[in-house]
Amino acid sequence: MSGVHHLPWWKQVVIYQVYPRSFADANGDGIGDLPGLIAKLDYLKALGVGALWLSPVYPSPMCDAGYDICDYMDIDPLFGNLADLDLLISEAHKRGLKLLMDFVPNHTSDQHPWFIESRASRANSRRDWYIWRDQPNNWRASIDGGSAWSWDEVSQQYYLHFFLPQQPDLNWHNPRVVEAMHQVLRFWLDRGVDGFRIDVVHCIGKDPTFADDPRCLAGETMVRINDQPYSHEVLRGLRRLVDHYPDDRVLIGEVNIRSTAQVAAYYGASDELHMSFNFPPLDAPWDPVVFRLCIREVKGCFPSHSAWPTWALSNHDNSRLRSRYGGSLRRTHAAAVLLLTLRGTPFIFQGDELALEDTQVTAQTRVDPGGRDGSRAPLPWKINAPHGWPGKTPWLPFPPDVSTLAVEAQEAIAESTLGLYRCLLSCRRESEALSIGEWEELPSHPQLLAYRRHSHSDERIICINFDQVEHAFPLAGQWITQISSDRQSEKELFKGTVAAEQAVILRRRENHHEQ
Ligand code: NOJ
Repeated sequence: MSGVHHLPWWKQVVIYQVYPRSFADANGDGIGDLPGLIAKLDYLKALGVGALWLSPVYPSPMCDAGYDICDYMDIDPLFGNLADLDLLISEAHKRGLKLLMDFVPNHTSDQHPWFIESRASRANSRRDWYIWRDQPNNWRASIDGGSAWSWDEVSQQYYLHFFLPQQPDLNWHNPRVVEAMHQVLRFWLDRGVDGFRIDVVHCIGKDPTFADDPRCLAGETMVRINDQPYSHEVLRGLRRLVDHYPDDRVLIGEVNIRSTAQVAAYYGASDELHMSFNFPPLDAPWDPVVFRLCIREVKGCFPSHSAWPTWALSNHDNSRLRSRYGGSLRRTHAAAVLLLTLRGTPFIFQGDELALEDTQVTAQTRVDPGGRDGSRAPLPWKINAPHGWPGKTPWLPFPPDVSTLAVEAQEAIAESTLGLYRCLLSCRRESEALSIGEWEELPSHPQLLAYRRHSHSDERIICINFDQVEHAFPLAGQWITQISSDRQSEKELFKGTVAAEQAVILRRRENHHEQ
């Protein structure tokens, strides 16, 4: 691509979320690990993504699958060790892949030495590293939906936790906490990590008045509503730290507030987050009206010249996109076209490129106290059991249709979901319009979503039919179907109709030898 040298890498790539415990297992203990991931880097390179975001791999009692950390600067033996991580960084970089770690600043595990000290007595020097009160307020926690305060028998006070009681919230209003967490970032940046996905970053500043929040009475949890000016101040400090490093290290926040305008505010004046997740599209049903509104909202809130949006249609906290969209493979394929052709950096959650559905858990196989196991199932690599997972049975059951959807089964088939993703990613890499171009909505039948991407002379038109019947999409000029989600009519002249639940990427016919 030409003319993109001034653009940071994170605007030009597609990012792949690796959920390490379910990705690939090298030591046969039934839990994915870093050596397993290293062995599959060529798969990711061939898929065509440009960066990996690794969900937490730090030492943890695993009450919340590693989002309860007891040492920020080490690797849990389940996943390997620091030498494995260093090797992962260098092997990823060798292949031109960036590596992002998950930074979890809002809370630690209750087994973190800081909290063990903090709860030891009211006089402990780390007491105010966490948030202690004599009386709780009405704030509600996520995951179990209970009170955000737990009573500590030993020191006879309540501590605050926006998630499980085993995840006490750090007190970022204490400068010593800020400094300790800066050290954590430096530790990983110095090792060569390219940036961070920051867990619930909008939660770190707390309302200093600790007033009851009426929205909690209506069932809201603090994680959906906490939005304090102080979080922005903290973010500016993190940004200054990261900007000090070369090569465009990046901060990508999980801002879990369901308002795109509020999310956009976390970019600050280009001095806070580089990018943030935006959840309304992930919550959206398969409905063009809802998607149109979400996309228009993003366009309104993220002006072209400054803030750069992100797109994610699933992750480890939600049902897989195929399951949410009713199980239909056609829809899943059309959704892949949508995800990979909008303006902003797309995130693929591992296994969506295989069209996996949620795994079924029973009372016996359930692991997550928040009921989020469905999307966290192990990735099937091989057609035959044990599907590339040597040794012990994996920690969660495989998703449905495990043999048909295995990487090995899809790899050689262009019409497979994996084939489509590879093709979409390569098309996006080769087109400036698709990767970094402007986005402009086109008029269409209400059941279609149509838009134009353009940059200099490069342009593409994308049309997604959400309906179960074909619709006309007349266009002036002559257009070639570059990619079609059902792989029909590719390289042919576009005939002005889009089939039921089909999505197409069109490019202008360049010369008369083309069909
Ligand atoms: C958001 C993470 O994505 C989720 O998995 C976790 O439970 C919470 N934050 C708490 O860290």
